[in-house]
Amino acid sequence: MSLETDKYNFFKPGEQWRDTDNNIIQAHGGQVQQLIFTDSKTGNTVKKWIWVGEDKSSGARGGIRMYSSDDLHNWNSEGIVMRNVPSREALENDEYFKSVYAGYSEEQLDNVFRSLDAGSAIIERPKMIYNEKTRQYILWFHADGPTDTSNSSYAAACAGVAVSDYPFGPYRFVDRYRLNVCPDNQKDMHPSSKGMARDMNLFVDKDGTGYIIYSSEENLTLYISKLNEEYTYLETSPDKAVYGRDFIRLFPGAQREAPAVFEREGKYYLISSGCTGWEPNQARYYRSDAVFGDWENMGDPCVGDMKHTTFDTQSTCVFKDSTGRYIYMGDRWNSKNLSDSRYVWLPVKFTQDGNMLLEWQDKW
Ligand code: DGJ
Repeated sequence: MSLETDKYNFFKPGEQWRDTDNNIIQAHGGQVQQLIFTDSKTGNTVKKWIWVGEDKSSGARGGIRMYSSDDLHNWNSEGIVMRNVPSREALENDEYFKSVYAGYSEEQLDNVFRSLDAGSAIIERPKMIYNEKTRQYILWFHADGPTDTSNSSYAAACAGVAVSDYPFGPYRFVDRYRLNVCPDNQKDMHPSSKGMARDMNLFVDKDGTGYIIYSSEENLTLYISKLNEEYTYLETSPDKAVYGRDFIRLFPGAQREAPAVFEREGKYYLISSGCTGWEPNQARYYRSDAVFGDWENMGDPCVGDMKHTTFDTQSTCVFKDSTGRYIYMGDRWNSKNLSDSRYVWLPVKFTQDGNMLLEWQDKW
C-alpha cells in the first residue's frame, strides 16, 4: 500500500492481496467484469468492477464472495453473496435463509441443503452474468459433493445456478444439474456417469447468447453448452439437445480443466489447465473462429515459465480492462492452507498473428 494515498496502484502477483478493510481477499476460482447498475445505498447509477470468487477462509468449503472496485487495484468487500447452509433447520429458522428462500417447498429446501451443506458441499469456480431481458444476475458454479450412492466429495459433478436482482446478492440457489451427454455416435470417455459438469466458466457472445464451458466425462472432455435466453438453464435439455446446435465436445481424452473463454478481434480463445488437483501444471490454449467452431490447439502461452506450471497458477478468467488490455487471472492454490491461496494476474500480450503470450511480472 502506498503511504501517500493509502491506496494500491499496482498488482503484485502471488503476494497477499488485501481489501480496503485490510482483510485478505477471498475470491478464488473467480471472475472479474465491469457492470453498470443502480447502487442500492445511494440510488446512483454506478460503473464498477465486480470480482466474484470462492470464500476459502475456512478451507475447502465456503460460500461465494464478491468485491467491487473502481480501478481493479482497490477492492471493497461486498460480503458473502451466496451462503452455504450450516444445517437443514437453519433454512427454516435463520432470518437470512428464511427471507432468501421464502416460498420454497420442503422438497426444494431439502435440495438447497443437499447442494449447499456447509459440511459437505463443494462450491467452486463461481461466475456471474447479467441477463438484460430478465434484469437478473445469474450465478453459475461447480456444485459438487457426495451423493446417495457415493461418499466422494466430487461425486455429484453438477453445475449449480443461483439468481439475484442485485449484483451483490443475496443470491437464491435454484438448482444443480448434470448437463449434456456424449452422443451415441461418438466415443464417450467415461460412459459410466453421464452429463458430469465440474470446473466451469461462462461466456456471453456478442449476440447475447450465453454459454457454459465445463469439464465433463470425469474431466476427460470439455463441453460447451448453450444457455437459455434467461441464462438460468440449458437452451435445450440434455434428452433433446442436438450436437453442434446445443453443445459441442472438445478434445476428448485431453483432460483439460479450469477453462476460461474470451473473444478478441473476432477470434475466440480458450485457456485451460491439465488435471493435477491443487498442484499447478502447464497451460494450453485453443483458438477458434466461432464458439461452436473448430478449436485449434495453440499450445502453452507462457514465455519463460521454466517449470511449465503456468507460473505456478491455474487459469480462472481472462477479461479486458478499460484500456483494452486483456488480463489473465490465475489461482496459485496452497493445498496445505487453501485460505492462503494467492492471486496471480498478468497482462496478456498478443503477437501480430493473434498468438497469446503470458510473461511473468513481479509488479505491474
Ligand atoms: C482442480 C480444480 O481446477 C479446482 O477448482 C479444484 O476442484 C481442485 N482441482 C480440487 O482438487
